[in-house]
Amino acid sequence: MNIDILKRTANRLVISPKGILAIDESTKTCNSRFEKLGVPTTEEKRREYRELLVTAKGIEKYISGYICFDETVRQSTKDGKKFTDILKSKKIDIGIKVDQGTKDFGTNIGDKITLGLDGLSLRLDEYKKIGATFAKWRAIYNIGENTPSEDCMNANAESFAKYALLCQEHDIVPIVEPEILIDGDHTIEECYEVTAKNLDIIFPILKSAGVYIPGIILKTSMVIAGKSSQNQSAPDEVAEFTLKCLKAHVPADIGGIVFLSGGQEDEEATLNLNAMHKSKRLPWPLTFSYGRAIQNPALNSWAKNSTDVIAAQKLLVEAAKRNSQASVGKYK
Ligand code: 13P
Repeated sequence: MNIDILKRTANRLVISPKGILAIDESTKTCNSRFEKLGVPTTEEKRREYRELLVTAKGIEKYISGYICFDETVRQSTKDGKKFTDILKSKKIDIGIKVDQGTKDFGTNIGDKITLGLDGLSLRLDEYKKIGATFAKWRAIYNIGENTPSEDCMNANAESFAKYALLCQEHDIVPIVEPEILIDGDHTIEECYEVTAKNLDIIFPILKSAGVYIPGIILKTSMVIAGKSSQNQSAPDEVAEFTLKCLKAHVPADIGGIVFLSGGQEDEEATLNLNAMHKSKRLPWPLTFSYGRAIQNPALNSWAKNSTDVIAAQKLLVEAAKRNSQASVGKYK
């Protein structure tokens, strides 16, 4: 493990005013988004869409890294340029989702454990050769009557630690992504409690496994009320609860913290991040790593008219710019 490389990569990923773009939807997720918009669910259509995302001009002003799916790092543009070479030429870091989805954990309905440790070291060898400098592993937690259970949180934390250590042994910065799902009618206070407890489980396990904390990035959900809660959270409230939680439960020397949008409305995700940057000095770099909140306008436009790639790319870059502004509290 070369801690200088890890630290430098982490710093580059969260350098202000940039954030990370997630385009790592699994084939299943990507297809289901295509299906809803009437786009054929073929490998070629996924390639065509990812080409649009990768070749968007000027996006490198706002985006430091792209998180890709395995299929995408092997694909090329229609005229034969590898996507990875295009990203490298724009000095955008290449990230790779290395978890392999989730399955039910035990018999407690709603608890999920993330899969993907089998053969991970070999896959990282290959991704490193392709040029990946960072990786991502996501675990999901449902807030319900009996979920998430402490056993499930512990088991996911153990997997995070094994994954993160393997990445760091390859000089690849691991993004550790515990996502408390927004689905449900929980209150913001309940979300705070679960998020805090989970972070309190994750960090001691990472540290005792020997994970180098300044060489990881935490990708977290915001502390926010559930989508179907009666009391939807305003940006100032999300900012207050989220910052309080992260300050109390994340080590100050972490490489950086980034947010997923997790099904928030596009502008809601931007306004919430913006509100967090109204506050004075934060202990860690704090920015976005959105998927849907940046891609949605571009995907919708391309689905309606796939011949007008430029129009879709313009929408993509504008969304990246809005979130870049929010990452320094300057979004209006
Ligand atoms: P969303 O911003 O669409 O939630 O995607 C981010 C991500 O990487 C989810 O794992």
